[in-house]
Amino acid sequence: MRTALFTAVTALVAPVVLGQERDPSSELYTDSSSNITFNTWSPSPFVTIGLALPPDALETDTDEFLGLITCSDPAGWCGVSLGGGMVSNLLVLAYPSPSNPEKILTSLRWASDYGPPIEPYNGDAKLSQILSTINATHYQVLFRCEKCLGEWRQGEEQQGGSFPSSGGFLLFGWCHASSAPFGEAECADKAEVSQHDSQGLFGAEVTSFTLAPSAEEYALWAGKASGGMVDDECVA
Ligand SMILES: *[C@@H]1O[C@H](CO)[C@@H](O)[C@H](O)[C@H]1NC(C)=O
Ligand SMILES: *[C@@H]1O[C@H](CO)[C@@H](O)[C@H](O)[C@H]1NC(C)=O
Repeated sequence: MRTALFTAVTALVAPVVLGQERDPSSELYTDSSSNITFNTWSPSPFVTIGLALPPDALETDTDEFLGLITCSDPAGWCGVSLGGGMVSNLLVLAYPSPSNPEKILTSLRWASDYGPPIEPYNGDAKLSQILSTINATHYQVLFRCEKCLGEWRQGEEQQGGSFPSSGGFLLFGWCHASSAPFGEAECADKAEVSQHDSQGLFGAEVTSFTLAPSAEEYALWAGKASGGMVDDECVA
């Protein structure tokens, strides 16, 4: 009796305590091999972006996150801007390796204008892969991105920054191109890309659904990121 009452009260109270509902444009996704749960957004049929933030990211601005990018075109490349438009925002480029189709290459980039060159990013932000998968129709990469949110620098200078996570809203950009990166594309930081075929912005509401359930769980998930950039054969 007591248990039943307690359960009933909890059921009534819990949603109020959390005070939050999942952003209806998002979908929860648990990756079966890492067991990491991401809240995901699919702003385009080509691109899905997932986020898992530290559990206190709504109280304390986080400068890191665990990310997922799924791209539905293994012949091309996808990009995500961690702040909105492509100019003066940290950009993540992802594409299948031209020489090793098992591997997804990732590179942090920077654009000071709309158009090439999309330079390699030179600053504190660091992306390390957790795992990647590829099949005939999709490729997916899971990663940890440190010093990737909040204020960031390119070279010596403060260049911009994303919205603070405590504000409950992050703005991202996405793009997709159907043509493969070229040039020295075996090396993700040297790969050149032609203009994307589609692009857009989307807002990600940060709710409890976007947060790891506990600091322990976040540390466990983040600890799986030992894969480095997987920028591959970057011979100087
Ligand atoms: C997967 O994660 C959930 C919570 O995030 C946890 O309860 C469960 O035990 C985990 N499963 C495995 C196999 O690690
Ligand atoms: C291919 O990979 C995507 C993304 O990981 C997945 O959603 C899809 O089910 C996979 N397709 C097949 C046929 O396994």
